[in-house]
Formats: sequence, C-alpha cells, structure tokens
Amino acid sequence: MKSLIVYYSQTGNTAGTAIILSNILKEKGKVKILSLEVKSEIPSFFKKCRSAFFRKRVQINEVPTDISSYDLFCIGSPVWVLHPAPAINTYLDQIEGAAGKEAVAFVTYGSGLGKSKALKCMKNSLLNKGVSRVKTFSVSQFHSKDSDYIRKILKDLGI
Ligand SMILES: Cc1cc2nc3c(=O)[nH]c(=O)nc-3n(C[C@H](O)[C@H](O)[C@H](O)COP(=O)(O)O)c2cc1C
Repeated sequence: MKSLIVYYSQTGNTAGTAIILSNILKEKGKVKILSLEVKSEIPSFFKKCRSAFFRKRVQINEVPTDISSYDLFCIGSPVWVLHPAPAINTYLDQIEGAAGKEAVAFVTYGSGLGKSKALKCMKNSLLNKGVSRVKTFSVSQFHSKDSDYIRKILKDLGI
C-alpha cells in the first residue's frame, strides 16, 4: 500500500501524530509525508482564530497536489476555533486525482471544543473532491506524540 500524509502543524503536536501515523503505515508499505508551511504567518492569535473560523485560505509552500498514485491519502490539522487551520483549506482546494480514493482526516486539539466540526469540514472537502471513504480520528495535544495511544486508535479504525 502506498500512502501520502499531508499535515500542517504550528507547534509540533499534529506533526508528532503525523510522524507516528507514518511509522505505522510504513509497516504496510511506502509512505510519503509532507508538511505544509504558510508563506506569511498570520501574525496574532486573534487573527488566526478569525481566519480559521471564516475558512480563509493562506499561501502555502509548493507541495505535490496530485494524489492519484496513492492508495491512501491522510490529512492532519490542529483544531483552530472549530475548524481546520487555513493552510489545510488551501491544500484541500488544490488536490487532484482524488476520485475513488480512501482517505483519513485527523486533528489534534486542546480543550476538544470543535474537534468534530473541524473533522467534518475536512471530510466534506475530501468528499467534494470525489474521495469515496473518509475515516477520521482526533487526538488530544497531550497524546499527540504517544505512539501506543495512536496505534490503538488506528487499530480500532481498521488502519
Ligand atoms: C489559533 C488557535 C485556535 C485554537 N482553537 C482550538 C479550538 O477551538 N479547540 C481546541 O480544542 N483546541 C484549539 N486550539 C489548540 C490546538 O488545536 C492544539 O494545541 C493543537 O494540538 C495544536 O497543534 P499543532 O502543535 O500541530 O499546531 C487552538 C490553537 C490555536 C493556536
């Protein structure tokens, strides 16, 4: 199985989860992992919240957007005010070759407020791109680098 993992992480939690996911998927085949970087950082916490809440787009680094050659596409974001981070919105706009694919959307979170809504946003964007099935999971920031914890979540999801 060939998997692609794309994530955005401002403070390392989602990166931690993405890396653990990558190590687990490597047991089943080849994995490519890509980090999204924003070209100009949104300057304040308040502006980040507003930008996420209104589902704004930001400029991101150039990363491959054609996912047609992968069997599994995974996308990970922190929860920002009930939504994915804007870099994820930008990337999801750009993906191609998603028709009929299997996908996994995941988030890391603080309090947990809005984690389901954020996942729903990501899931809907993927379905709009033609993805056939989306599995989702969320991880508290306190468990985001806990390999055993994440392995169990993935096992329960059949991943
Ligand atoms: C701008 C901003 C908004 C956030 N909003 C939420 C939220 O609505 N709900 C929540 O549970 N956590 C929220 N958090 C906490 C992050 O989701 C959490 O710390 C996450 O693990 C950060 O991931 P990262 O280290 O990959 O950036 C927010 C953090 C930031 C910076």
